[in-house]
Amino acid sequence: MRVLITGSSGQIGTNLGITLVSGGHEVVGIDVRPNTWSHAFPTHLADLTTDSHPGVGVLGGVEVGTVDAIVHLAAHAKVHALVERPRGALENHAMVTNALEFARMNAVPVILASSREVYGNLGRRDNPVSEAEADFRSSPSPYAAMKLAGEALASSYFRCYGLPYAIIRFSNVYGRYDDDLLRLERAIWVFNDRIRSGKPVTVFGAEKTLDFTYIDDAIDGLVRCLHRLVDGDPEVTASTFNLAHGTGHSLLGVVNLIAATRNLTPDIRVEPSRPGEVTWYVADITRAQAALGYLPRTPVTTGVPRAIVEAMARGS
Ligand SMILES: NC(=O)c1ccc[n+]([C@@H]2O[C@H](COP(=O)([O-])OP(=O)(O)OC[C@H]3O[C@@H](n4cnc5c(N)ncnc54)[C@H](O)[C@@H]3O)[C@@H](O)[C@H]2O)c1
Repeated sequence: MRVLITGSSGQIGTNLGITLVSGGHEVVGIDVRPNTWSHAFPTHLADLTTDSHPGVGVLGGVEVGTVDAIVHLAAHAKVHALVERPRGALENHAMVTNALEFARMNAVPVILASSREVYGNLGRRDNPVSEAEADFRSSPSPYAAMKLAGEALASSYFRCYGLPYAIIRFSNVYGRYDDDLLRLERAIWVFNDRIRSGKPVTVFGAEKTLDFTYIDDAIDGLVRCLHRLVDGDPEVTASTFNLAHGTGHSLLGVVNLIAATRNLTPDIRVEPSRPGEVTWYVADITRAQAALGYLPRTPVTTGVPRAIVEAMARGS
Protein backbone atom coordinates (compact mmCIF):
# COMPACT_ATOMS: atom_id res chain seq x y z
CA MET A 1 0.00 0.00 0.00
CA ARG A 2 1.20 3.57 -0.75
CA VAL A 3 -0.13 6.08 1.77
CA LEU A 4 -0.09 9.88 1.72
CA ILE A 5 0.20 11.36 5.23
CA THR A 6 -0.39 15.08 5.75
CA GLY A 7 1.11 16.58 8.89
CA SER A 8 3.73 13.85 8.56
CA SER A 9 6.35 15.74 10.60
CA GLY A 10 4.09 15.86 13.66
CA GLN A 11 3.77 13.45 16.55
CA ILE A 12 1.12 11.13 15.12
CA GLY A 13 2.32 11.50 11.51
CA THR A 14 5.90 10.53 12.35
CA ASN A 15 4.84 7.52 14.40
CA LEU A 16 2.33 6.41 11.75
CA GLY A 17 4.84 6.82 8.91
CA ILE A 18 7.51 4.79 10.71
CA THR A 19 5.00 2.05 11.58
CA LEU A 20 3.71 1.78 8.00
CA VAL A 21 7.21 1.72 6.50
CA SER A 22 8.32 -0.97 8.95
CA GLY A 23 5.21 -2.94 7.94
CA GLY A 24 6.38 -2.95 4.29
CA HIS A 25 4.24 -0.06 3.03
CA GLU A 26 5.33 3.04 1.17
CA VAL A 27 4.72 6.44 2.73
CA VAL A 28 4.81 9.90 1.20
CA GLY A 29 4.59 12.77 3.65
CA ILE A 30 3.54 16.41 3.31
CA ASP A 31 4.14 19.00 5.99
CA VAL A 32 4.90 22.68 6.22
CA ARG A 33 7.99 21.75 8.32
CA PRO A 34 10.76 19.21 7.79
CA ASN A 35 10.61 16.08 9.93
CA THR A 36 13.05 16.55 12.81
CA TRP A 37 12.51 13.04 14.25
CA SER A 38 12.90 10.56 11.39
CA HIS A 39 14.05 10.05 7.81
CA ALA A 40 12.14 6.79 7.40
CA PHE A 41 9.99 8.31 4.63
CA PRO A 42 10.20 11.36 2.33
CA THR A 43 8.65 14.67 3.40
CA HIS A 44 7.49 17.20 0.82
CA LEU A 45 7.29 20.74 2.17
CA ALA A 46 4.01 22.50 1.39
CA ASP A 47 1.51 24.76 3.09
CA LEU A 48 -1.81 22.96 2.82
CA THR A 49 -3.86 26.06 3.60
CA THR A 50 -3.08 27.55 0.19
CA ASP A 51 -5.54 27.68 -2.66
CA SER A 52 -3.36 25.68 -5.07
CA HIS A 53 -6.01 23.23 -6.19
CA PRO A 54 -5.54 19.53 -5.52
CA GLY A 55 -5.40 17.45 -8.69
CA VAL A 56 -4.64 13.94 -9.86
CA GLY A 57 -1.53 12.99 -7.90
CA VAL A 58 -1.07 16.57 -6.67
CA LEU A 59 -1.67 18.12 -3.24
CA GLY A 60 -0.43 21.51 -2.02
CA GLY A 61 1.32 21.98 -5.36
CA VAL A 62 3.38 18.82 -4.71
CA GLU A 63 3.49 15.86 -7.11
CA VAL A 64 2.81 12.90 -4.83
CA GLY A 65 1.93 10.38 -7.52
CA THR A 66 -0.54 7.54 -7.10
CA VAL A 67 -1.57 6.56 -3.58
CA ASP A 68 -4.02 4.05 -2.11
CA ALA A 69 -5.22 6.30 0.73
CA ILE A 70 -4.66 9.64 2.42
CA VAL A 71 -4.42 10.11 6.20
CA HIS A 72 -5.03 13.78 6.93
CA LEU A 73 -3.34 14.85 10.16
CA ALA A 74 -2.07 18.34 9.32
CA ALA A 75 -3.48 21.00 11.62
CA HIS A 76 -2.72 23.73 14.07
CA ALA A 77 -3.16 21.34 16.99
CA LYS A 78 -2.93 23.62 20.05
CA VAL A 79 -6.46 24.25 21.28
CA HIS A 80 -5.80 27.30 23.44
CA ALA A 81 -3.70 28.96 20.71
CA LEU A 82 -6.77 28.87 18.46
CA VAL A 83 -8.93 30.43 21.18
CA GLU A 84 -6.50 33.34 20.93
CA ARG A 85 -6.26 33.17 17.11
CA PRO A 86 -9.49 31.68 15.75
CA ARG A 87 -8.41 32.23 12.14
CA GLY A 88 -6.07 29.29 12.70
CA ALA A 89 -9.14 27.08 13.07
CA LEU A 90 -10.36 28.31 9.70
CA GLU A 91 -6.95 27.38 8.25
CA ASN A 92 -7.45 23.89 9.69
CA HIS A 93 -10.72 23.68 7.82
CA ALA A 94 -9.04 24.84 4.60
CA MET A 95 -6.59 21.94 5.00
CA VAL A 96 -9.44 19.47 5.49
CA THR A 97 -11.13 20.81 2.36
CA ASN A 98 -7.92 20.36 0.34
CA ALA A 99 -7.41 16.81 1.69
CA LEU A 100 -10.99 15.83 0.81
CA GLU A 101 -10.65 17.35 -2.64
CA PHE A 102 -7.45 15.38 -3.20
CA ALA A 103 -9.25 12.20 -2.11
CA ARG A 104 -12.20 12.94 -4.41
CA MET A 105 -10.05 13.72 -7.45
CA ASN A 106 -7.91 10.63 -6.93
CA ALA A 107 -10.81 8.36 -5.86
CA VAL A 108 -8.97 7.18 -2.74
CA PRO A 109 -10.30 6.73 0.81
CA VAL A 110 -9.41 9.32 3.43
CA ILE A 111 -8.97 9.24 7.21
CA LEU A 112 -9.46 12.57 8.99
CA ALA A 113 -7.96 13.26 12.41
CA SER A 114 -10.57 14.71 14.72
CA SER A 115 -10.51 15.15 18.47
CA ARG A 116 -12.33 14.45 21.72
CA GLU A 117 -12.56 18.25 21.88
CA VAL A 118 -15.70 17.94 19.72
CA TYR A 119 -17.61 16.68 22.79
CA GLY A 120 -16.84 19.79 24.80
CA ASN A 121 -17.99 19.18 28.35
CA LEU A 122 -20.73 16.72 27.46
CA GLY A 123 -18.87 14.10 29.46
CA ARG A 124 -20.19 13.39 32.92
CA ARG A 125 -18.55 11.47 35.70
CA ASP A 126 -18.87 7.70 35.40
CA ASN A 127 -20.30 8.11 31.92
CA PRO A 128 -17.86 7.45 29.06
CA VAL A 129 -18.69 9.52 25.98
CA SER A 130 -19.76 7.69 22.83
CA GLU A 131 -19.34 8.92 19.26
CA ALA A 132 -23.01 9.81 18.71
CA GLU A 133 -22.97 12.35 21.56
CA ALA A 134 -21.06 15.04 19.64
CA ASP A 135 -23.17 18.13 19.10
CA PHE A 136 -22.04 21.36 17.43
CA ARG A 137 -23.91 23.36 20.11
CA SER A 138 -21.43 22.04 22.69
CA SER A 139 -18.28 23.10 20.78
CA PRO A 140 -15.97 24.49 23.47
CA SER A 141 -13.53 26.25 21.12
CA PRO A 142 -12.88 27.30 17.50
CA TYR A 143 -10.56 24.27 17.18
CA ALA A 144 -13.40 21.90 18.14
CA ALA A 145 -15.94 23.71 15.98
CA MET A 146 -13.75 23.32 12.89
CA LYS A 147 -13.03 19.65 13.69
CA LEU A 148 -16.80 19.10 13.64
CA ALA A 149 -17.08 21.10 10.41
CA GLY A 150 -14.44 18.84 8.85
CA GLU A 151 -16.34 15.75 9.94
CA ALA A 152 -19.52 17.18 8.40
CA LEU A 153 -17.73 17.94 5.14
CA ALA A 154 -16.39 14.37 4.94
CA SER A 155 -19.90 13.07 5.50
CA SER A 156 -21.17 15.29 2.68
CA TYR A 157 -18.45 13.99 0.31
CA PHE A 158 -19.57 10.44 1.09
CA ARG A 159 -23.17 11.31 0.24
CA CYS A 160 -22.46 13.49 -2.83
CA TYR A 161 -19.52 11.60 -4.34
CA GLY A 162 -19.45 8.23 -2.59
CA LEU A 163 -16.03 9.06 -1.14
CA PRO A 164 -15.06 6.48 1.54
CA TYR A 165 -13.82 8.08 4.76
CA ALA A 166 -13.32 7.39 8.45
CA ILE A 167 -12.96 9.84 11.33
CA ILE A 168 -10.64 9.19 14.27
CA ARG A 169 -11.23 11.22 17.42
CA PHE A 170 -7.91 11.17 19.27
CA SER A 171 -7.54 12.01 22.94
CA ASN A 172 -4.36 13.31 24.62
CA VAL A 173 -1.94 11.14 22.69
CA TYR A 174 1.47 11.04 24.38
CA GLY A 175 4.69 9.08 24.49
CA ARG A 176 7.04 9.55 21.52
CA TYR A 177 8.03 12.48 19.25
CA ASP A 178 5.90 14.87 21.30
CA ASP A 179 8.38 16.53 23.65
CA ASP A 180 9.44 19.51 21.53
CA LEU A 181 8.23 21.91 24.19
CA LEU A 182 8.66 25.11 22.21
CA ARG A 183 6.32 23.96 19.43
CA LEU A 184 3.81 21.66 21.08
CA GLU A 185 3.48 22.60 24.78
CA ARG A 186 1.88 19.22 25.56
CA ALA A 187 0.78 19.05 29.21
CA ILE A 188 2.94 16.07 30.20
CA TRP A 189 6.11 17.69 28.88
CA VAL A 190 5.31 21.11 30.34
CA PHE A 191 4.82 19.41 33.73
CA ASN A 192 7.99 17.37 33.30
CA ASP A 193 10.03 20.46 32.46
CA ARG A 194 8.74 22.40 35.47
CA ILE A 195 9.21 19.49 37.88
CA ARG A 196 12.76 18.67 36.82
CA SER A 197 13.85 22.31 37.04
CA GLY A 198 12.22 22.78 40.47
CA LYS A 199 9.74 25.39 39.21
CA PRO A 200 6.09 25.61 40.30
CA VAL A 201 3.73 23.49 38.20
CA THR A 202 0.45 25.22 37.27
CA VAL A 203 -2.50 22.89 36.79
CA PHE A 204 -5.52 24.52 35.15
CA GLY A 205 -8.51 22.78 36.76
CA ALA A 206 -8.33 20.99 40.12
CA GLU A 207 -10.72 18.27 38.99
CA LYS A 208 -9.80 18.16 35.31
CA THR A 209 -9.89 14.52 34.24
CA LEU A 210 -8.92 13.38 30.75
CA ASP A 211 -8.36 10.16 28.80
CA PHE A 212 -4.64 9.84 27.97
CA THR A 213 -3.70 7.58 25.04
CA TYR A 214 -0.26 6.02 24.74
CA ILE A 215 1.12 6.60 21.25
CA ASP A 216 1.46 2.90 20.35
CA ASP A 217 -2.22 2.33 21.13
CA ALA A 218 -3.27 5.32 19.03
CA ILE A 219 -1.16 4.16 16.07
CA ASP A 220 -2.40 0.57 16.38
CA GLY A 221 -6.01 1.79 16.16
CA LEU A 222 -5.23 4.15 13.28
CA VAL A 223 -3.45 1.45 11.25
CA ARG A 224 -6.30 -1.01 11.86
CA CYS A 225 -8.75 1.63 10.64
CA LEU A 226 -6.64 2.39 7.56
CA HIS A 227 -6.44 -1.25 6.46
CA ARG A 228 -10.15 -1.84 6.93
CA LEU A 229 -11.10 1.39 5.14
CA VAL A 230 -8.90 0.55 2.14
CA ASP A 231 -10.44 -2.95 2.08
CA GLY A 232 -13.91 -1.36 1.92
CA ASP A 233 -15.13 -2.70 5.27
CA PRO A 234 -18.72 -1.40 5.65
CA GLU A 235 -18.29 -1.26 9.46
CA VAL A 236 -15.54 1.30 8.99
CA THR A 237 -16.55 3.25 5.89
CA ALA A 238 -18.25 6.55 6.80
CA SER A 239 -17.73 5.78 10.49
CA THR A 240 -16.33 7.71 13.43
CA PHE A 241 -14.19 6.18 16.17
CA ASN A 242 -13.00 7.28 19.58
CA LEU A 243 -9.40 6.13 19.98
CA ALA A 244 -8.38 6.52 23.60
CA HIS A 245 -7.54 4.29 26.55
CA GLY A 246 -11.07 4.40 27.92
CA THR A 247 -10.11 5.52 31.43
CA GLY A 248 -9.86 8.94 33.04
CA HIS A 249 -6.93 10.44 34.94
CA SER A 250 -6.79 13.80 36.68
CA LEU A 251 -4.09 16.22 35.60
CA LEU A 252 -3.04 16.42 39.26
CA GLY A 253 -2.56 12.65 39.25
CA VAL A 254 -0.42 12.86 36.10
CA VAL A 255 1.77 15.55 37.71
CA ASN A 256 2.29 13.30 40.75
CA LEU A 257 3.08 10.32 38.49
CA ILE A 258 5.77 12.31 36.66
CA ALA A 259 7.22 13.59 39.93
CA ALA A 260 7.26 10.08 41.46
CA THR A 261 9.06 8.72 38.36
CA ARG A 262 11.70 11.43 38.78
CA ASN A 263 11.75 10.94 42.56
CA LEU A 264 10.97 14.63 43.11
CA THR A 265 8.30 16.53 45.04
CA PRO A 266 6.28 18.87 42.79
CA ASP A 267 5.32 22.41 43.81
CA ILE A 268 1.76 22.41 42.44
CA ARG A 269 -0.33 25.57 41.93
CA VAL A 270 -3.94 25.05 40.91
CA GLU A 271 -5.71 27.63 38.73
CA PRO A 272 -9.22 27.57 37.22
CA SER A 273 -9.60 25.94 33.80
CA ARG A 274 -9.03 28.35 30.92
CA PRO A 275 -11.73 29.34 28.38
CA GLY A 276 -12.27 26.67 25.73
CA GLU A 277 -10.86 23.81 27.81
CA VAL A 278 -12.57 20.46 28.33
CA THR A 279 -12.67 19.55 32.02
CA TRP A 280 -13.89 15.93 31.98
CA TYR A 281 -13.61 13.31 29.27
CA VAL A 282 -13.44 9.55 29.25
CA ALA A 283 -13.99 7.81 25.91
CA ASP A 284 -16.42 5.03 25.23
CA ILE A 285 -14.23 2.86 22.98
CA THR A 286 -16.64 -0.01 22.39
CA ARG A 287 -17.20 0.92 18.72
CA ALA A 288 -13.46 0.85 17.97
CA GLN A 289 -13.13 -2.42 19.88
CA ALA A 290 -15.95 -4.03 17.88
CA ALA A 291 -15.18 -2.70 14.39
CA LEU A 292 -11.38 -2.42 14.51
CA GLY A 293 -10.43 -5.02 17.09
CA TYR A 294 -8.82 -2.11 18.95
CA LEU A 295 -7.45 -3.06 22.35
CA PRO A 296 -5.44 -0.37 24.15
CA ARG A 297 -2.64 -1.95 26.15
CA THR A 298 -0.89 0.88 27.98
CA PRO A 299 -2.56 2.66 30.90
CA VAL A 300 -1.26 6.03 32.08
CA THR A 301 0.32 4.37 35.10
CA THR A 302 2.64 2.46 32.72
CA GLY A 303 2.87 4.85 29.77
CA VAL A 304 3.73 8.08 31.60
CA PRO A 305 6.61 6.56 33.62
CA ARG A 306 7.89 4.90 30.42
CA ALA A 307 7.82 8.23 28.53
CA ILE A 308 9.53 10.05 31.41
CA VAL A 309 12.24 7.41 31.81
CA GLU A 310 12.93 7.62 28.04
CA ALA A 311 13.10 11.43 28.31
CA MET A 312 15.48 11.20 31.29
CA ALA A 313 17.73 8.92 29.23
CA ARG A 314 17.82 11.69 26.58
CA GLY A 315 18.71 14.21 29.30
CA SER A 316 15.37 16.02 29.42
N1 LIG B 1 -1.88 14.34 19.71
C1 LIG B 1 -3.09 14.46 20.27
O1 LIG B 1 -3.24 14.28 21.49
C2 LIG B 1 -4.32 14.77 19.43
C3 LIG B 1 -5.57 14.76 20.06
C4 LIG B 1 -6.69 15.06 19.30
C5 LIG B 1 -6.58 15.34 17.95
N2 LIG B 1 -5.35 15.36 17.37
C6 LIG B 1 -5.28 15.69 15.93
O2 LIG B 1 -4.43 14.74 15.28
C7 LIG B 1 -3.70 15.38 14.24
C8 LIG B 1 -2.22 15.15 14.43
O3 LIG B 1 -1.86 15.67 15.71
P1 LIG B 1 -0.35 15.68 16.24
O4 LIG B 1 -0.43 15.44 17.69
O5 LIG B 1 0.51 14.82 15.41
O6 LIG B 1 -0.02 17.23 16.03
P2 LIG B 1 1.32 17.89 15.54
O7 LIG B 1 1.22 19.34 15.77
O8 LIG B 1 2.49 17.18 16.12
O9 LIG B 1 1.27 17.58 13.96
C9 LIG B 1 0.52 18.37 13.07
C10 LIG B 1 1.40 18.68 11.87
O10 LIG B 1 0.66 19.48 10.94
C11 LIG B 1 1.59 20.36 10.34
N3 LIG B 1 0.94 21.52 9.76
C12 LIG B 1 0.39 22.57 10.44
N4 LIG B 1 -0.03 23.50 9.56
C13 LIG B 1 0.25 23.02 8.32
C14 LIG B 1 0.07 23.54 7.01
N5 LIG B 1 -0.48 24.76 6.80
N6 LIG B 1 0.45 22.79 5.95
C15 LIG B 1 1.02 21.57 6.16
N7 LIG B 1 1.23 21.03 7.38
C16 LIG B 1 0.86 21.76 8.44
C17 LIG B 1 2.52 20.76 11.48
O11 LIG B 1 3.75 21.27 10.99
C18 LIG B 1 2.67 19.46 12.24
O12 LIG B 1 3.83 18.75 11.86
C19 LIG B 1 -4.11 16.86 14.26
O13 LIG B 1 -5.13 17.06 13.30
C20 LIG B 1 -4.66 17.06 15.66
O14 LIG B 1 -5.62 18.11 15.70
C21 LIG B 1 -4.22 15.08 18.07
